[in-house]
Amino acid sequence: MALSGPQVRRLDERLAARSQGLTPHQYLMFLQSPSGVTDLEDLIAAAVVNKTDLFRDEVQLAAFRAQVLTPLVAKTRRPLRVWSAGCATGEEVATLLVLLAEAGADPDSTVLGTDIAGDTLRRARWLAYSREQLRRVPPELRSSYFVRSGAREALAPALRERASFQCHNLMESPYPVAPGGGGFDVIFCRNVLIYFTEAAFQRTVEALARSLAPGGVLVLSASEPLLRVPPTLRVQRGEQAFFYVRPEEGAAEAPPAQHAWSGAASPPKQRGTAAPPERARTDAHQGLAVVTTPEPGPEARAEADLLFACVLDGAASGVSDAVAERDLRRCLTLDPDHAAARYLLGLLLEQCRRTAEAASEYRRAFQALESGRSRPVAFFLNPDRLRVACAHAAERLEFSVRRR
Ligand SMILES: C[S@@+](CC[C@H](N)C(=O)[O-])C[C@H]1O[C@@H](n2cnc3c(N)ncnc32)[C@H](O)[C@@H]1O
Repeated sequence: MALSGPQVRRLDERLAARSQGLTPHQYLMFLQSPSGVTDLEDLIAAAVVNKTDLFRDEVQLAAFRAQVLTPLVAKTRRPLRVWSAGCATGEEVATLLVLLAEAGADPDSTVLGTDIAGDTLRRARWLAYSREQLRRVPPELRSSYFVRSGAREALAPALRERASFQCHNLMESPYPVAPGGGGFDVIFCRNVLIYFTEAAFQRTVEALARSLAPGGVLVLSASEPLLRVPPTLRVQRGEQAFFYVRPEEGAAEAPPAQHAWSGAASPPKQRGTAAPPERARTDAHQGLAVVTTPEPGPEARAEADLLFACVLDGAASGVSDAVAERDLRRCLTLDPDHAAARYLLGLLLEQCRRTAEAASEYRRAFQALESGRSRPVAFFLNPDRLRVACAHAAERLEFSVRRR
């Protein structure tokens, strides 16, 4: 994990309190022994973020239903095997069970929830929720799939029996096996990888891709786009979300997603009128007078969006980091408050180990979102979560730069 400052502080405090009288080596041995289980769980709880929700990110879920689930149910006509990796307290598992039932999936379809944190899994197994937790569930689904259970509403028994939970660390093999073998039809791993280092992020995506059945689909959150799509996956790009598909065996090699320009072809010309002239403005968030740019005009925005879309397509076809960086910078010259592009530039620079530059891009993306200057763009449909991802990434990198 790439721990942020507060996470490191929390962890340090717990370590200091628990390891008293032992050398670090002795304490490590203790943690690895059966009697260290409680301590280990406590340390994991200090390090992880387990915020989750029923029907989290409805926009992405609606796209998942339309683009992935409905066609999958129509095509497979057998029980589907779904995995929620990093399920926290299990709301995603309940959400997926409801979506499967609504889509008319085979009643023997199953959803496995896994997480590294044992305490969250214990709560996940209840599959019962407070009124506040149910607020995003559409009323008709709430009355069809939840039943009163004391002060809470529990998932209906017919759905509960299709859920199972397991403690699993995504950094360790073996990975869970789908019932009957052959891989999972769908894997959700949302809001987990943003907390990983870049190397761990990439390794986990590759391992998850191997856990998919041919034709299976990996769902990451909107703020975790893949800049390097492993060769085992293809991007399925919709208007509202991206999904990553493991191609069917023997499926014809799909042509690489075409950049609007690639290789020797020239990039779109930047028209002089599109690039905005500089002007002075005070940036309230910096507390400093800085030189910024005026609102880009419609032409500049359109060009910026085209460049941004091309960078995303390029990620699928393996465009080099240098080309992606060039295009993101062009996009940001046209629209400096394009938070999604700036966030992607941060990810790219972080991958290239240009930590201080990456931190600065994350911070600027965060400020553009915070100030309301950033406009919504296709794909990053949930600016709230993009803001959290930017803030977290900036804080994490700034902390690691200070530590050096
Ligand atoms: C923010 S929650 C995401 C929950 C849910 N997927 C969602 O999007 O609402 C992240 C979860 O990932 C889990 N996690 C973090 N590192 C993990 C690892 N190495 N293996 C498995 N789970 C991990 C955390 O314990 C936490 O519960």
